[in-house]
Amino acid sequence: MNITVSPPNTIRGELITPSDKSISHRSVIFNSISKGISNISNFSDGDDCISTLEVLKKLGVKITQSNQNNSGLSLRIEGIGENLFPNNNLELNAGNSGTTIRLMSGILASKSNGYTLTGDISLCSRPMERITSPLNLMGANINSTNGFPPLYFSEKKQILKGIQYSMPISSAQVKSAVILAALNAKSDTAITQPSLSRDHSERMLTSMGAKIKLINNLIHVKPSSLSSIDLEIPGDISSASYWIVAGLIHKNAELTIKNVGVNPSRIGILNVLKRMKANFSLTNNKIIGNEPVADINVSSSELIGTTIEGDEIPLLIDEIPIICIAASLAQGQTLIKDANELRVKESDRLESISNVLSKLNVKHINNNDGILIFGSKKLSGGTHKTFGDHRIAMSIGIAGLVSEDSINIKNAEVASISYKDFWSHLKMISEQ
Ligand code: S3P
Repeated sequence: MNITVSPPNTIRGELITPSDKSISHRSVIFNSISKGISNISNFSDGDDCISTLEVLKKLGVKITQSNQNNSGLSLRIEGIGENLFPNNNLELNAGNSGTTIRLMSGILASKSNGYTLTGDISLCSRPMERITSPLNLMGANINSTNGFPPLYFSEKKQILKGIQYSMPISSAQVKSAVILAALNAKSDTAITQPSLSRDHSERMLTSMGAKIKLINNLIHVKPSSLSSIDLEIPGDISSASYWIVAGLIHKNAELTIKNVGVNPSRIGILNVLKRMKANFSLTNNKIIGNEPVADINVSSSELIGTTIEGDEIPLLIDEIPIICIAASLAQGQTLIKDANELRVKESDRLESISNVLSKLNVKHINNNDGILIFGSKKLSGGTHKTFGDHRIAMSIGIAGLVSEDSINIKNAEVASISYKDFWSHLKMISEQ
């Protein structure tokens, strides 16, 4: 699908953010291995979360779904508790989703029964040694394909033991995989993370009865069984970030983005934008499903450059492409460092971003672990490819709202990995 975005005179409106992808994955995975029945509302209908749903259904978990009015799906899940999954010797397809393959590996490590976990071309080129290594140390028997998917889980049921694990990289997916395996081990596990990353697993599992203690960067997990809980999934700040930036960089904009999850481990982008002198406010603060939520109001701003590095990176890792679009129109330079993890996302995002900035005619320097962007007064139009990466596609779309001429985006359909209605929402705010 090709999409052309032309800059509108004004941007106005109110958007309801789609359901949080990370929390949606966790809600269905964790409830599937819990005791009891749960009901989930506002579950993400993005392709990634549907991949998780399909994997669990194929394993034999009884999940029924119905559509909700506004957005998101309603699910009813019959958890299997401490039993093995009903179906074995299966090939399970995680599609494009790193969260699906890594979190499911943490579970299949102890419920292993002749499973193969695989995915699309992009997922099959993403590193898996980061999970197979700690999980095999715990006694799992997982073989990868030279460190990449497909992953093979032995037919023999594995009894896991707890470990002391110092994570070499900060990753919520790796942390979650080890925590999930640790819940099913016969002794305690201690995980040290180099810096904090999103904590949705710790929050949700604790509220389901898991014995998890957090002391700064240390996570202590005792073997525990889980009880199902009903959950409403809040909106996704990663999806909201496109509208936040659109509202800031367009010269005549006022937008409200409703129902945005503002968990402190996800709001790195808001902290950065504050430093960049963005005009925004949070209203209507509340708690949904053990997660803080707010409406975010944004308006046109004169942004200035900043430096983003170190412990801040995991708190905004998925927002870096759209932050780069904001930085392109900021006064002065923006330096992003310590972001090597971007090289192993759905695409090599440092390469993809650099390609997009070159086409927009924004001066920048590529570094091994990041990028230096020289803010410009204008962005050029042109034709862009998306590198099969949803976050790159959506970032280009936002650039098209402020570029001098129209921007043409090839394979724009990839946005549906996390945000099914992205292009219709973009049209809506441009036509108000
Ligand atoms: C996610 C964690 C992040 C993020 C991904 C979703 C999660 O990956 O980039 O989109 O749901 O745990 P890493 O944990 O690999 O950094």
